[in-house]
Amino acid sequence: MFVCMCYNVTDKDIKHAVNTHGVGNIRELKQHLQLGDNCGKCISMAQDIIDTQIIDESLFKDVG
Ligand code: FES
Repeated sequence: MFVCMCYNVTDKDIKHAVNTHGVGNIRELKQHLQLGDNCGKCISMAQDIIDTQIIDESLFKDVG
């Protein structure tokens, strides 16, 4: 699924950045991916994906 249409960034790209680089917010995400600098419509969805991914990760760690 595309999150940022302007720069062709997908939810997978964002999840990958969270998992591999420990990205926790939009500012950190922008250090790894280009998104949000054109129309800005993707910012809130990108933040939601970061938040959800962090929650999923911590749940997984509790189980593991
Ligand atoms: S959709 Fe991300 S900057 Fe436009």
